Amino acid sequence: MGPEHVGTELAEVLIDEPTLTGRIQQLANSLAADYEGERVLFVGVLKGAVMFMADLARAMPCSVEMDFMSVSSYGYGTQSSGVVRIMKDLDIPLEGRHVVLVEDIIDSGLTLSWLLRTLSARHPASLEVCALLRKREALQVELDIKYVGFDIPNAFVVGYGLDYAERFRNLSVIATLDPANATTAG
Ligand code: PRP
Repeated sequence: MGPEHVGTELAEVLIDEPTLTGRIQQLANSLAADYEGERVLFVGVLKGAVMFMADLARAMPCSVEMDFMSVSSYGYGTQSSGVVRIMKDLDIPLEGRHVVLVEDIIDSGLTLSWLLRTLSARHPASLEVCALLRKREALQVELDIKYVGFDIPNAFVVGYGLDYAERFRNLSVIATLDPANATTAG
């Protein structure tokens, strides 16, 4: 789904495809340099991180292992509550592994904060975060995030894995959405 859909429900393109591709290659280059000679495990958080994980992993010049987990917030509506439940756990044990947690977006930071506590308790050799997007203004907790693609304004964003009621995940760009103009069907 291309950016030609922007203009009706979607307000504007925030990050276009070449910009995404270029930044993801830079992140992959930094990761490759920092983990040179190590066995790295990318942990993706479903579903939003799928596109980013797939492109980041393919941009790596070396082999990486990949695993996925699915978590669900107990919060109401679209706001994260920080109370999280594991819906699908990882298949690969983390003990002694160099782990990179791959996230699509850090909004309040509450989900990530919980994930870092939970995954640290499994005694990885190292644990870092690589997030495509971060909303600095929305952050409610102090987080040490080593790899960030883009700092973005506190707007509702969709595309490249991010959804509005499960729509727009397959949009090839990151766009802003006006919920007042968007339908949940279609
Ligand atoms: C999104 C995103 C993060 C979380 C960020 O997931 O992937 O996991 O919200 O929000 P926070 O920083 O305020 O905690 P979501 O619950 O929308 O699930 P999805 O990836 O399946 O769309």
